[in-house]
Amino acid sequence: MNEYNHSTCGLILAAGKGTRMKSTTPKVLHKVMGIPILERVYQTLSRSGVDQICLVLSEDTASLENFLCNHPETTVCIQKNRLGTGDAAAAAAKAFLDIEPPKWSAGELVKGQPISSEYILVFFGDTPAISAETIKVFLEHSFLKSADIAILGMEHPNPHGYGRLVTDDNGFLSRIVEEKDADANTKKITLCNSGIMLAKTELLFSLLQDLTPENAQKEYYLTDCFELAAQRNIPTCVFVSEDYQSFSGVNDRSQLAEIETYLVRKKIESTQKSGVTFHLPETTWIDESVVIGTDSEIGSHCILQGNTKIGKNCIIGSRCTIINCSIPDNTILENNRSYNQNDFN
Ligand code: UD1
Ligand code: CA
Repeated sequence: MNEYNHSTCGLILAAGKGTRMKSTTPKVLHKVMGIPILERVYQTLSRSGVDQICLVLSEDTASLENFLCNHPETTVCIQKNRLGTGDAAAAAAKAFLDIEPPKWSAGELVKGQPISSEYILVFFGDTPAISAETIKVFLEHSFLKSADIAILGMEHPNPHGYGRLVTDDNGFLSRIVEEKDADANTKKITLCNSGIMLAKTELLFSLLQDLTPENAQKEYYLTDCFELAAQRNIPTCVFVSEDYQSFSGVNDRSQLAEIETYLVRKKIESTQKSGVTFHLPETTWIDESVVIGTDSEIGSHCILQGNTKIGKNCIIGSRCTIINCSIPDNTILENNRSYNQNDFN
């Protein structure tokens, strides 16, 4: 049992076609700051305190073999027809004990044993910047409220593309409307679906049974579960986060660049807080894995990649490229050079 005293399975939906990426590589394997999107999502969920993780993939799993080898404990289901996020969640039915899949869905359990968990936390495989802390706060809040079903909403200054949370006169969530189904008034709503939801396992699959693909995209929308819950008089617990940038989904290359810029900036800010100076920080590229000691200075236009550790009191000249290097304390590096570990042996 986890820290919340409610057994919870994290369900990552990663079977989408990723059409908008225009790529032969699955969307979730594109890298953000050197780490594949799916790996980031997986690490976030692992750190958020869920008991196990179930992954929904498309039938084309060959390119994901590496990821699956690195995470042998993961349960894997296949979504055969890729008919939307509701269909993806339904495809996981066979991963859960005593759960009947909806008749219209086609999913297979291909790895792992059926799971018995009280709750399911649904997480989209294309939102790589969400932090484990945010998930923890959402889970704590939802469990405190004894929610049967809960959604993590975000206030977004530019909500285009996101599902909008429509509330009734009493402030209760009545439904979620996708961008493509929204009328002009609904499009003005800035409270959006982050893509993260929590529901009791039995309730989630019972709601999924009633989904229909009657919408602009002819898809089974996971988000329709909330209207179905409202119709059954089951209240939804809504938790709203202001940190909208961290919820950005990667749907195309421009969003990929946006989220990478956001995460590089965050990494630089946290490194600055630990006592490192960056000259013209907006020109630096730094991978998530890079560690820099206090009182070091990084010149402008540097590229710091891979398993790089820079010691304390180092001065890194401008326009340096440093890949997989362990650099001792007090090192001074001249401008305009590429360095590898051989330079420091
Ligand atoms: C979705 C939500 C939207 C929300 C936004 C947050 C729905 C209907 N819409 O929209 O309300 O604001 O995310 O980022 O849920 N996937 C599958 N199988 C499918 C389709 C999708 O596994 O058949 C996976 C994708 O791999 C992806 C995730 O589900 O990781 C979300 O799918 P996507 O098509 O990107 O949904 P959005 O249009 O972004
Ligand atoms: Ca998306």
